[in-house]
Amino acid sequence: MEEQKKIGRTIGIFDSGVGGLSVWRELLKILPGTRMIYVSDSAYCPYGPRPQKEIVSRAKVISAFLISEGADVIVVACNTATAASIEVLRDSFSIPFIGMEPAVKPAALNSKTGVIGVLATQGTFRGRLYNKTRKEYASDIEVIEQIGSGLVELVEQGRTRGDESAELISKYVIPMVQRGADHIVLGCTHYPFLKEEIARIAGDGVTIVDPAPAVAKHTFEMLEELGLKNSEALATEEQTMFYSTGSAQNLIRVARNIMPSIPEGFFAEKTI
Ligand code: DGL
Repeated sequence: MEEQKKIGRTIGIFDSGVGGLSVWRELLKILPGTRMIYVSDSAYCPYGPRPQKEIVSRAKVISAFLISEGADVIVVACNTATAASIEVLRDSFSIPFIGMEPAVKPAALNSKTGVIGVLATQGTFRGRLYNKTRKEYASDIEVIEQIGSGLVELVEQGRTRGDESAELISKYVIPMVQRGADHIVLGCTHYPFLKEEIARIAGDGVTIVDPAPAVAKHTFEMLEELGLKNSEALATEEQTMFYSTGSAQNLIRVARNIMPSIPEGFFAEKTI
C-alpha cells in the first residue's frame, strides 16, 4: 500500500542550510527526473561550531522526517553532519545513507608540491572519518587545515561576491598558496558557492576540489546496485520538494539560481 503512494523512488537530502544544494545540483545532472526532498535546517545553521550531540539529534530528527516523506536513500549533503552522525544514522535507520567527506584523497594523490589546503568547519576537522583519510592518504604530505569561519554565513546571506567575501576568503586562502598548496579542498558543501571567488584569489596554479560530483556519482551507483533507480523520469520541475526549518527565502533564491522553473508550491517552511 505504502509503495503505491510514492511517485517512483525518492532521494532525501539535508544540510544545515543551502550548502547541500551544491550536491543537489550534481544529483540533478546525473539523476534527472528523480523525486527528491531537500531539507535546509536553517533554524540551526551553522552546524560547524555546535556540539556533536546536538548535530546528531538534528540529523536523526530530519532523517526520520525524510523517511516519513518517502525517502528510500538519504544523502547527508553536509560534511559536518556526516562527521558527527553518519554512524549513528546507519545504526538507527534501515535505509542507506551517503555521506560527505573532504576530498583529501584525490588532492593528496594529485598534488605535485606535496602541500594541500583543506577548508572545512570545526566539526568536520574533529571527525573520525576525515582524520582516518588524512592519515591513510596524506601522512607524507603537508595538509594545511583552515576553519572557514564566517563563510557559511556569507553563503546563507547571499553575500558571495564583493569586498567582504574577497577579504575573508583571502585571509584563509592566501596563506595556503604562500605555503605552496597546489590543491584546495572544499570540505563544506556551502563553499562551492564561493568557488569562483576562491579560484580567483588562489590563482591559476591551484586546483579547487569539490567532492559533490563524486558523491552524486556514488549515489547513482548505489541506487543502481540496490535496484532503486527510477525507470521513468518525472517532469523536471516536479522533482524536488524543498523544506526549510527557518525562513525559506535564501533556499528559494539559491535553488532557483540552479533551476529557475521551480514553482512556489515546492517550497515550504516547516518546524522539524
Ligand atoms: N554545509 C555544511 C558542511 O558541509 C555545514 C556548515 C555549517 O553549517 O557549519 O559542513
